[in-house]
Amino acid sequence: MEDRGALKVFFGPLFPLIGTWKGDKGMDVSPEVDGAEEAPYFETIQIEPVGDAINAGVQKLVVLSYKQIVCRKSNGEVFHHQLGYWYCEKKTNEVFYSLSIPRAVCVLTKGSAEKKGNAIEFNLRASHDDKNFGVLETPFMGKNAKTKAFTMHLSVDGDTMRYKMNTALHIYGRDFDHTDENTLTREKV
Ligand code: HEM
Repeated sequence: MEDRGALKVFFGPLFPLIGTWKGDKGMDVSPEVDGAEEAPYFETIQIEPVGDAINAGVQKLVVLSYKQIVCRKSNGEVFHHQLGYWYCEKKTNEVFYSLSIPRAVCVLTKGSAEKKGNAIEFNLRASHDDKNFGVLETPFMGKNAKTKAFTMHLSVDGDTMRYKMNTALHIYGRDFDHTDENTLTREKV
């Protein structure tokens, strides 16, 4: 499906996400034993069409895959790597977003897509006590670096993407809001 008009109709609210995005204004706030570290970063997010998935012959999801690779500005090294999918059930306007990261933590979120003028905004959430939109993690992480909740606000306006993520952790004996935000530009459709 090369035709952009056909892609737009097919993917609906997810269509504006498709492309290769780059941004170098990222800021990560992550936990340390005795406080927090603030690390500026740059990243690439590649978002590609997958197609559709029909579940139990009834539920039709349209699906994109993504790969997010995040590098520390101070040394250029990859310090976060994330893979997952964007899903939309156009009939109900529900949006789902999954992520898995190399710490052996997986999250499935649920949310919505809303048009705001020319932009589209996604608000997504998962919580460790939600049996559907929750967190899967190893026993070690559950005990020592628990992900209690994850939220993401992401908007696309033309070729500009902005996001803010909050990963609510319990680590080093306390709650900690591990946050990430960046502004990216679409380099390639
Ligand atoms: C741009 C996105 C992200 C960046 C740059 C990032 C970076 C970091 C960094 C630097 C640490 C501290 C690691 C250390 O001290 O060894 C950390 C910890 C952690 N991150 Fe992220 N992270 C991101 C997103 C996420 C997401 C989406 C999740 C899960 C939903 C997540 C889960 C965790 C967990 C569970 C820890 C605690 C592990 C530990 O410090 O021992 N992170 N992250």
